[in-house]
Amino acid sequence: MMNSMYGKSILNLTELTKEEFLSIIELAVAIKADPEAYRGVLAGKILAMIFEKNSTRTRVSFEAGIIQLGGQAIVLDSKSTQMGRGEPVKDTAKVMSSYVDGIMIRTYSDQIVAELAKEASIPVINGLTDDHHPCQILADFQTIYEQKGKLEGIKLTYIGDGNNMAHSFLIGGSLVGMDISIATPKGYEPKAEFVELAKKNAKVSGSIIEIVNDPDQAAKNADVLVTDVWASMGDESEQKEREVIFKEFQINNRLSVQAKKDYLFLHCLPAHRGEEVSVDIIDGTHSAIYEEAANRLHAQKALMVKLMANL
Ligand code: CP
Ligand code: NVA
Repeated sequence: MMNSMYGKSILNLTELTKEEFLSIIELAVAIKADPEAYRGVLAGKILAMIFEKNSTRTRVSFEAGIIQLGGQAIVLDSKSTQMGRGEPVKDTAKVMSSYVDGIMIRTYSDQIVAELAKEASIPVINGLTDDHHPCQILADFQTIYEQKGKLEGIKLTYIGDGNNMAHSFLIGGSLVGMDISIATPKGYEPKAEFVELAKKNAKVSGSIIEIVNDPDQAAKNADVLVTDVWASMGDESEQKEREVIFKEFQINNRLSVQAKKDYLFLHCLPAHRGEEVSVDIIDGTHSAIYEEAANRLHAQKALMVKLMANL
């Protein structure tokens, strides 16, 4: 049977059905268990990676992943490309489509990724934008599935800035039937369009979507507690101001008592210990941050196989 994801682009997870999303997680678990069985699946395939923002995990896990699958990566700092000097995205998309088999891009604007995907004849993967981080969600949901045995019916609480991670949890969680509770300071809520989208998905999946300004309320009975930096890439100039505004939004021992006794702590990393999360939580027994980071490799190998191999 033809793989329905072959040739698709992943901009923000709305491209996937629940079944497709779950099949990526399933494949990620299989690849992790037996990586040798998948060696060579992308033999001869080339992934170009364009970075306009810094990265450690995304850069290394995608490159290691495609090499392990038998392909190769070309890593581009956007500043050194002609796109960085203003060449139209359309021309970049058409030209790159004639050289490589897939493009992963980390940039600011979602519009650039959407235009790249529209004009390219090869899959385009969003490796983080101001509004979305879909690859991180794949790894996070793989980690939750491994640790909790299911995704549907899990309550995930995100505390902090209504940023790209919050949006991606809303979209991914509402797709698979996970309850998503988000607590942010007033004025830092996730964008209304993604909350609406999640609520629409929830009507089908049965998810409960809650957006509040009270961390204790959001954390009640959580299976998973998650946070992210208070000032994302691009917001650095607001760091000091945000440290004051977000002070009550730290995941720490005081807040974690609201969660279930066996709650799991996740953070996409990089983390600021002592800001969005206390040291005892991030380095404590509930934390699975390194398993989560490790799963970036397996989840993205699964994603590349689905998009780039007509299996
Ligand atoms: N979590 C994440 O995307 O990490 P990098 O910024 O290091 O890629
Ligand atoms: N929200 C963070 C995630 C980093 C992986 C940022 O965009 O900087």
